[in-house]
Amino acid sequence: MAGKSDKEVIGNYEVSKDGFLTRREVLTMGAAAAASALVAPAFAAAGTPSAPAGQAGDPYVAKDFSGLQGKLDCLSASQIEQHLKLYKGYIGKANELRSKLKDVDLASANQSYSAIREMLVEQSFAVNGVIYHEFYFGNLGGKGGDPTGDLKSAMEERWGTIGKFNDFLKAAGKSVRGWVVVGFNTRGGFIDTFGLDTHNIGSPANFVPLLVLDVYEHAYMVDYGIDRAKYLDAFLKNVDWDIVAKRFNITRKHPTGLDATV
Ligand SMILES: [Fe+2]
Repeated sequence: MAGKSDKEVIGNYEVSKDGFLTRREVLTMGAAAAASALVAPAFAAAGTPSAPAGQAGDPYVAKDFSGLQGKLDCLSASQIEQHLKLYKGYIGKANELRSKLKDVDLASANQSYSAIREMLVEQSFAVNGVIYHEFYFGNLGGKGGDPTGDLKSAMEERWGTIGKFNDFLKAAGKSVRGWVVVGFNTRGGFIDTFGLDTHNIGSPANFVPLLVLDVYEHAYMVDYGIDRAKYLDAFLKNVDWDIVAKRFNITRKHPTGLDATV
């Protein structure tokens, strides 16, 4: 196991510089949590947001993505500011629901309606709202262009050329109502894409996000009104492929996190 000096911080976790989470971390986190650790806080030290939603000790504390404001090509500071407000709202609700579930009434459990049912379902909405936004903001701030290295090879294996991938991504972005998630399918060992109409519907298990695209109207209406196509072009100009490659390299070394299929 690598010593501390050989590690760097990605999200809330330390990762050795060759991209390996420690075995202990993977077993403790599981695949879903390991996925959330792959969100790189590109513009601030992890866990030190300037205007946190969630307090120290809360399970969810907002990461600081304010450095994106004014940095992006064709996405204004105002657009990002509005989006970050929404993200912090999900942080607050994720914390609230986790807290309230500790004391929820168990006797009234019912699949048509009950407090525990509603809280469990909405918790998945709020938590995925946090996680997908962190992946999304984390993979903004680059210069776009093409990926490189093994990531590029894997994408070319799937799409043929990066140009065809870009066409696919934009078409996917026009086709769904919430999220386009390009990720590593740990069940198949390949890059895959899923479309989500809302945070918690259409999220397969053991699928680790690599490149996340938010196509909710709130992601672009300040700048583009209803012209989603222009937003999709702007998104591609700002992708940080280095972050995506880092996620890819970590994830494929730990395809499941847990040996969940044995
Ligand atoms: Fe969003």
